[in-house]
Amino acid sequence: MQTALCKLSIKGMTATRRYEKREISSFFHTLFATFVIMNITTVSIVLFSPTGTSRKVAMAVADGCRYESRIVDATYRTPENLHFESNELVIVSVPVYGGKVAPIALQRLDAMRGNNTPVVPIVVYGNRAYEEAAEQLYEFVRSRGFVPVAVGAFVGEHSYSTSQHPIATGRPDATDLADARAWGKAIAEKLSCAKHPKRIDIATLKEPRNSIFSTIRFVLFVLKQRRNKSGVKPHVEVIDHKCKRCGKCAKLCPTGAIEAGNCLHTDTTRCIKCCACVKGCPTKARKLDTPYAPILSQCFKKRKSPVTTL
Ligand SMILES: Cc1cc2nc3c(=O)[nH]c(=O)nc-3n(C[C@H](O)[C@H](O)[C@H](O)COP(=O)(O)O)c2cc1C
Repeated sequence: MQTALCKLSIKGMTATRRYEKREISSFFHTLFATFVIMNITTVSIVLFSPTGTSRKVAMAVADGCRYESRIVDATYRTPENLHFESNELVIVSVPVYGGKVAPIALQRLDAMRGNNTPVVPIVVYGNRAYEEAAEQLYEFVRSRGFVPVAVGAFVGEHSYSTSQHPIATGRPDATDLADARAWGKAIAEKLSCAKHPKRIDIATLKEPRNSIFSTIRFVLFVLKQRRNKSGVKPHVEVIDHKCKRCGKCAKLCPTGAIEAGNCLHTDTTRCIKCCACVKGCPTKARKLDTPYAPILSQCFKKRKSPVTTL
């Protein structure tokens, strides 16, 4: 009888001990998870955006994330502090020039360093093609200590777009920005339950295709332009009587190609043809003379939607 009681009590004790063990293990699990799950609270928006479309896209993605945000703008100068820690999310948004990331953006961001920092590389292009740009930006950040957790390519109004030759006018529009916000929300949700940033495979980003006809037509045009050495090279012109010498163009120029007191002159060795001065001129005194605007407008009319991975 005594033994049975003893056994019972021992059984009871064992049962109690097991229960406690489960409780203790769950307590440690929660404690562990609190420290191990990434605790991201801020987002840094790193951008280069002469005509503002890359900025708009990045802001909408950050808005969707709902983290506290700060902007690191490389449009006018090389930013000072480009070091980022693992407890923040970094969004890098840059335009596509000639199928690659705008070279000056990469120069200005060369000192970027992450510490296993989750990053979202975004390229913004003028509805023709982004070609190598997304992979280039992905590798750029990856080789600097960042972990690309999502990648995106969005369409922005083409820098060469005018009312006469419209190319993706008004993009990113309300639909693009809603997509960008929804994507930002999904990124934040994914990060909120991840223990560490998981690298996305860039090969999963699929570029929207152009029709064979437009591609061939455009390629033939480009080849013809290259052969024609005496043809017009894209350059900015100023209509003297329209220019009020307000100096806004000089302020908007990312490379200092326009002198503040001498708006009529553009230093062609510095000009990157970004069209910030053209689009920002209050009196429409500046225009980019380029043979590419009409052909881009004709060949790449069909709306392309943003492509993203997560
Ligand atoms: C010099 C130059 C080259 C460009 N090359 C391409 C290109 O290869 N493909 C494309 O679709 N858009 C191209 N664009 C258009 C820009 O990628 C697009 O307008 C982008 O939205 C500009 O970004 P931003 O507003 O941040 O300056 C080019 C624009 C410029 C100025």
